[in-house]
Amino acid sequence: MAIRNLQYLCLFLSSISPILANAQTDNRIALGSSLLASDNSPTWKSPSGDFAFGFRLLDNQNLFLLAIWFDKIPDKTIVWYANGDNPAPKGSKLELTNDGQFTLNKPQGQLIWKAESVRNGVAYASMLDTGNFILANGQSLYLWESFKLPSDTILPSQVLEAGAKLNSRQTDNNYSKGRFQLQFLAKGDLVLNTIALPTDLVYSNYYNSSTSDGLNGMNSGYRVVFNESGYLSVIRRNGNLVNLTLGNIPSTRDSYHRATLDFDGIFTQYAHPKAPRNGTWDQSWSIVWYEPKDICFDMTGDYGRGACGYNSFCTLDSFGRPSCECLPGFSLEDPNNKFSGCKQDKVRKCDPGDSNPEELFEIHVVSNTFWPSSSNYERFPLSSEDECTRSCFSDCNCVVAIIKEGTCWKKKLPLSNGRLERNTYGKALVKVPKSDGSSEYPHSPNLDQGKKDQTNPILKKQKPTRGSSILETNIRSFTYKDLRDATDDFREELGRGAFGTVYKGTISSPSSSKEVAVKKLDKLLVYEYMSNGTLASFVFGISKPDWNKRIQMAVGVARGLMYLHEECSTQIIHCDIKPQNILLDDSYTTRISDFGLAKLLMGDETRTQTVIRGTKGYVAPEWFRSKPITAKVDVYSYGVMLLEIICCRKNVELERGNEEDIILTDMVYDYYKCKRLAMLVEHDEEARNDMKRVERLVMVAIWCIQEDPSLRPSMKTVLQMLEGVIEVSVPPSPFPFSSIC
Ligand SMILES: *[C@@H]1O[C@H](CO)[C@@H](O)[C@H](O)[C@H]1NC(C)=O
Ligand SMILES: *[C@@H]1O[C@H](CO)[C@@H](O)[C@H](O)[C@H]1NC(C)=O
Ligand SMILES: *[C@@H]1O[C@H](CO)[C@@H](O)[C@H](O)[C@H]1NC(C)=O
Ligand SMILES: *[C@@H]1O[C@H](CO)[C@@H](O)[C@H](O)[C@H]1NC(C)=O
Ligand SMILES: *[C@@H]1O[C@H](CO)[C@@H](O)[C@H](O)[C@H]1NC(C)=O
Ligand SMILES: *[C@@H]1O[C@H](CO)[C@@H](O)[C@H](O)[C@H]1NC(C)=O
Repeated sequence: MAIRNLQYLCLFLSSISPILANAQTDNRIALGSSLLASDNSPTWKSPSGDFAFGFRLLDNQNLFLLAIWFDKIPDKTIVWYANGDNPAPKGSKLELTNDGQFTLNKPQGQLIWKAESVRNGVAYASMLDTGNFILANGQSLYLWESFKLPSDTILPSQVLEAGAKLNSRQTDNNYSKGRFQLQFLAKGDLVLNTIALPTDLVYSNYYNSSTSDGLNGMNSGYRVVFNESGYLSVIRRNGNLVNLTLGNIPSTRDSYHRATLDFDGIFTQYAHPKAPRNGTWDQSWSIVWYEPKDICFDMTGDYGRGACGYNSFCTLDSFGRPSCECLPGFSLEDPNNKFSGCKQDKVRKCDPGDSNPEELFEIHVVSNTFWPSSSNYERFPLSSEDECTRSCFSDCNCVVAIIKEGTCWKKKLPLSNGRLERNTYGKALVKVPKSDGSSEYPHSPNLDQGKKDQTNPILKKQKPTRGSSILETNIRSFTYKDLRDATDDFREELGRGAFGTVYKGTISSPSSSKEVAVKKLDKLLVYEYMSNGTLASFVFGISKPDWNKRIQMAVGVARGLMYLHEECSTQIIHCDIKPQNILLDDSYTTRISDFGLAKLLMGDETRTQTVIRGTKGYVAPEWFRSKPITAKVDVYSYGVMLLEIICCRKNVELERGNEEDIILTDMVYDYYKCKRLAMLVEHDEEARNDMKRVERLVMVAIWCIQEDPSLRPSMKTVLQMLEGVIEVSVPPSPFPFSSIC
């Protein structure tokens, strides 16, 4: 009992008094020290207590990982591990031997891991405050460093030399080697690639820093530096540096930083506040930077499973993360791992002589998908879609037929590197055994699990309600002819809305037929007189407009912008979104107007640089930094406007008494973080009775006004978040500084 109290006292002292702890030269671990793998095994901490070295219990397995982690935050995030492929059973012993070896052995004595190539003369070990664990000689010269053998993470002050590698882990909580790898190549490129597990054979790159120099090498990169201020860069031989992390980032004084090759293949720099704010840890790791920007698109090549597993296709979520879906008739190999690839739910015996394959199989259509050629085995010019379908039906090798650009391709399993892709009018016809009948061959016991969700993911997402356009679902695209046919040459008008007229139609696929509404866009956008003025006169007017009406308008504008960004054959960036440019008709339907500044972008020109346009207060920061201008500038302006709609006030109100309240976009994050949102709508009783929704809308707006354009969601995602189709995650601070509550 007495000893326990003493331990508590020590912990208490070191947590309130880091200076006292630092006063000891460092936390030297003497030769002969050891740690045992057990539930409450002690750890070796760095002087500040920021990092700890020791054993971590793996999920319910009685197996342990020898690791280094951030010790002061609730997540205890692991940044280095020794034995991911070979977890240590309980009772295993880590020992710094008297002759300077550093070894991990099973209870029975077999070696699990040892520090390799340690030079002679080790005098002590130490966990440093940088997160580096070192073995040093009597002169404190480092003879071995964990920083030289990174796992999946690097930390500020860590350097990657030529030949250095990071390997992803398998999944979030399985630390064995995953299939993604980061390498800093001797010729100077930092690349990401997949490997052919369990070997190290390298498949093609999906990211390349392009910092090598084909000429004499003088301009080639030779080190990757994650500097103490939290900036990652490649240093060239001539001393120039290529910034990887850009812009303002949270200060390393107040935030921990790490850059991790995540198990989904994305190399991500994260920041985490060092201390709780107002007693609570309201923030976890937030994303500072990542590459590649679109892993679904950048993952190419003929070998390997792609960003997702086999037989699934990839889409990006709003945080640039890959999200994988099985083809219809397939479900996940491992239901707990969406990257595990998909297997057929049912395999039906197929006989080339079957006279009526239509009775055994049905076709499910997945539109807008791109599949590389590696799984093709036959192609022929398409005379009709039916012919392509029939040909696949009567061919036992055919699992999927792709129709694209007048060609029918037949594909065999497994399919890899598939992705949903806008503007790819290719569609996949997936041949799926019909569920009735007798000659079914179950593939696995969990045959029907999740089947309902997996079947026909594309059609499932369409909500063809009256008045809403099928374009809103944004998953499936149609040609003009498809739509003209569907609406019987635009015969029955349902109504008129932003940008055009809505017609009734019917879309048929081999498996179903649905009533839809089709909106025909007016060729570029001629406006009739708007009887109810602009959103500005409405929202900033004298009497406060109805809360629900305001939300409806916010959603309406989001939808309109989404059309401009994504649905027009040529992408349109408006560049001057503000309430004065939103017109209202007599039913308060919103229409975006004043395309005076709009940029029309053709195909690959989606990033562009140009002189500043737009209106002060609504203009995204990248305009001022001569950064590329993308559709994300409209997302920023939309975020500002959304806040104005929520609060019924202008973004900038110089006449405000309290200086902190002058600029809405500057104050909103603090109000959100400190749970004072009610004050933003304090005179609005309807809104105050709907605080959950206020919070969600504010969170969306904060995402939209992120300083880093790549963190802002697309308008499609904004719309889905507003409509509650997808969750809104906790937004990071839109700028580097935010005060303490
Ligand atoms: C981690 O995944 C690998 C490969 O799938 C598997 O062999 C291993 O058993 C898993 N490890 C743990 C601790 O679950
Ligand atoms: C990376 O890109 C550069 C420039 O495009 C090229 O020269 C180099 O070969 C690429 N590196 C690898 C490993 O593919
Ligand atoms: C870190 O890198 C950034 C960007 O390259 C640079 O501005 C900053 O001065 C560097 N900080 C340190 C401490 O080296
Ligand atoms: C890298 O970033 C630093 C600080 O942000 C800046 O001073 C420097 O000019 C940048 N270098 C390049 C090559 O862009
Ligand atoms: C908007 O239009 C409605 C219907 O025409 C009308 O009753 C209302 O007064 C108008 N409001 C404004 C602000 O003009
Ligand atoms: C801090 O938290 C306390 C208790 O939760 C709360 O009463 C107080 O208002 C908070 N302070 C700020 C500035 O938000």
